[in-house]
Amino acid sequence: MAAKALRPPSSFPPQPDGAASIYTRKEDHLDLAMQQVAGPARRNGFDAWEFEHCALPEIALEEIDLRCVFLGHALRLPLLISSMTGGPQRAASINRHLAEAAQELGIAMAVGSQRIALEACGASGLDRILRTVAPDIPLFSNFGAAQLNLGYGCDEARRAVEAIGADGLILHLNPLQEALQKEGETDWRHLLRKIEQLVQGLGVPLMVKEIGCGISPALARQLASVGVAAIDVAGAGGTSWAAIEAGRMEQADAKQVAACFTHWGIPTSRALREVARACPQLPLIGSGGIRHGLDVAKALRYGATLAGQAGGVLAAAMESTEAVLRHFRILEQQLRIACFCTGSPDVATLRQARIVAAARNA
Ligand SMILES: Cc1cc2nc3c(=O)[nH]c(=O)nc-3n(C[C@H](O)[C@H](O)[C@H](O)COP(=O)(O)O)c2cc1C
Repeated sequence: MAAKALRPPSSFPPQPDGAASIYTRKEDHLDLAMQQVAGPARRNGFDAWEFEHCALPEIALEEIDLRCVFLGHALRLPLLISSMTGGPQRAASINRHLAEAAQELGIAMAVGSQRIALEACGASGLDRILRTVAPDIPLFSNFGAAQLNLGYGCDEARRAVEAIGADGLILHLNPLQEALQKEGETDWRHLLRKIEQLVQGLGVPLMVKEIGCGISPALARQLASVGVAAIDVAGAGGTSWAAIEAGRMEQADAKQVAACFTHWGIPTSRALREVARACPQLPLIGSGGIRHGLDVAKALRYGATLAGQAGGVLAAAMESTEAVLRHFRILEQQLRIACFCTGSPDVATLRQARIVAAARNA
């Protein structure tokens, strides 16, 4: 493909902000995302639906099979640790805790944006060390699709994949965040065609995700038509980037612009249901506000092959590998009990379990 040549770090074109200010921004993001996890506003849409309880499951709780296959990779649990970047001070230890836990649990992991690692010095923990600590899991690279309009192409994408020994690349779509950031990239023309070129030239599966505003069924069809291997709907109801960007802003007018979009986006449960209907053959990841194993169960019920979590595991990831393990073991047990109480011996059966609108249960 006609990808522009890689711009080496020393001659990389002047960015609206340099690496130092990207680092500061990423540190701010971590702090503000943590504040949100504690915050009350959640509307992923899953609470509007309730599984029908099965009072005589006729299965053994401990025998329930939670294994699944995602893009040819066998996983012990249907879970993905969603992409998270941070500033250099904390990213390396966060990534290490997540990777060690993912290896132990047999779940998938996507790293945060590799833009800094590709453009500047310092890998922020985004190097082969992750593969060393997590040799067996599906590991996915990440950067923003907007970078495709700033000179990124197949070469940069391959470098991102090779840098961590990834099994695929997840491109993130974040038009709202870019529009709100002072330094954001707002020329999004011709990106679908560039995504198609990347699909054709990359050599490993290319997936596309949002970052908390959801993917519509119409866009999912377009992405499927250009050959993406999977979609992560990353819907609204969890981490709100408009709220995070509003929190970073000092200028009152810009803060007001951002605050208006705090709740923007397609709630995760709706995005998932509609995208699954639009693209029944495409592997889907259900993420955006996944709080616990019952949300995971509902995401699987609505068509996800995996459920993904970012903000919900961030506090544990900052603490230790053991904290991440504890976090996901709770989530696993919640998912197992959801299977038990719907009479589902495995994930495939859970996907057929009866679920009704909560309003009808009143
Ligand atoms: C601290 C933090 C950093 C993130 N950085 C990235 C990133 O670099 N690339 C990306 O695709 N998504 C990134 N995300 C978005 C998540 O992958 C996810 O799509 C979004 O937060 C919604 O999921 P959640 O509600 O479980 O947090 C980040 C999320 C958090 C909380």
